[in-house]
Amino acid sequence: MLYNSDCLEVMKDFSSDSIDMIYLDPPFYTQRIQSLSDKNGRKYKFADTWDSLDDYLSFMRVRIKEMKRILKPTGGIFLHCDTSASHYLRILLDEVFGVANFRSEIIWTYKRWSNSKKGLLPAHQTIFYYTKGKNYKFNIIYGNYSATTNLDQILQERVRDKKGKAVYKRDENGEIVTAKEKKGVPISDVWEIPFLNPKAKERTGYPTQKPIELLERIIRISTDEGDCVLDPFCGSGTTLVSAKLLNRDYIGIDINPDAIEITKKRLADPYKTTSILLKVGAAAYRTKNETELSILNQFECDIVQRNKGIDAFLKRHYFGCPVAIRIQRDNESFKDALSMLVSASKKKNCSFGILITYEKNLNSKINIPSNIIVINKYSTQFEIELDKKTAK
Ligand SMILES: C[S@@+](CC[C@H](N)C(=O)[O-])C[C@H]1O[C@@H](n2cnc3c(N)ncnc32)[C@H](O)[C@@H]1O
Repeated sequence: MLYNSDCLEVMKDFSSDSIDMIYLDPPFYTQRIQSLSDKNGRKYKFADTWDSLDDYLSFMRVRIKEMKRILKPTGGIFLHCDTSASHYLRILLDEVFGVANFRSEIIWTYKRWSNSKKGLLPAHQTIFYYTKGKNYKFNIIYGNYSATTNLDQILQERVRDKKGKAVYKRDENGEIVTAKEKKGVPISDVWEIPFLNPKAKERTGYPTQKPIELLERIIRISTDEGDCVLDPFCGSGTTLVSAKLLNRDYIGIDINPDAIEITKKRLADPYKTTSILLKVGAAAYRTKNETELSILNQFECDIVQRNKGIDAFLKRHYFGCPVAIRIQRDNESFKDALSMLVSASKKKNCSFGILITYEKNLNSKINIPSNIIVINKYSTQFEIELDKKTAK
């Protein structure tokens, strides 16, 4: 549902306790007219100018109160703002939702390349997360391990010895015990998500448009499929498009007819730009070259930083054990790459190893162990092969 009106008037008609989640990205109190043009030169703008701070906060207070009324008792609200008024808005949220219902201050951070002003380069915006009550809906999202995490160690189960020191657990034969499948690390309240670049296909030309990647994360943590998401200041409709892509219901309101027109178009043909940086992670960039990363990103895997024989482990375990991946280096023979992988994966108690090679005609005299899968092009063929082997 889409409404072209003042969100206050529209929300007054909504039933109490009816919305699962609200995300609002209102004017920030920048005291500027926000304007931008699309690829065809059509200009869009909205006013973020106020008589005074009190004027702005009164505008926000009455609307935030209405949002609380229509939010379900299990619901959450995410208020997006920046340093222009974030300190006042947090106090306002405390006042309306109660200090006890503050959940998180999410920092959305991104890379900025220029700074003409004297001072620190602003590289974040803030999203305050409050809930209506204590029994709120929350889904944990897991991210990848950081570059400094020793993944080799995490894959092995640990116990405390008599002195209370953490040591590797060993079975009756003295062998290291493999740990259970790990989901990753629960994400923190600092989110590094790139700004939409000016040429991104997702960009509509509407000023202050937010990336779908950011909205998807908010929607995933606070709602389930079929839940209803409201954006009372929807602008170009980013929240609604994200909700649609994630099979949630959505309601959008904006006072600007241009915003509603863009939102309608986007909903008819939703498009999301994928960030390569996000996919592979900034830390990974530093240790693997681009070709290696592009290969490893074909797999659902955790990249290993400090192991000469293994480049990554599949997230999924087979036969309760990890699966190692190794890419044959340019200056390395197939035989050498194979032996590095075989010995490293043995040490890590892997059920299978995947060796990615560029060699098309393999020397048939080389003995390839039955738990090693050789792929000579980047494909997901490994899944088919693993399924064949584990079905036996
Ligand atoms: C920061 S923009 C939202 C941008 C949006 N998140 C996106 O990704 O495109 C704020 C929007 O609030 C709208 N707006 C301002 N006052 C409003 C009001 N009283 N009711 C509804 N919308 C309003 C503006 O027209 C503008 O589109």
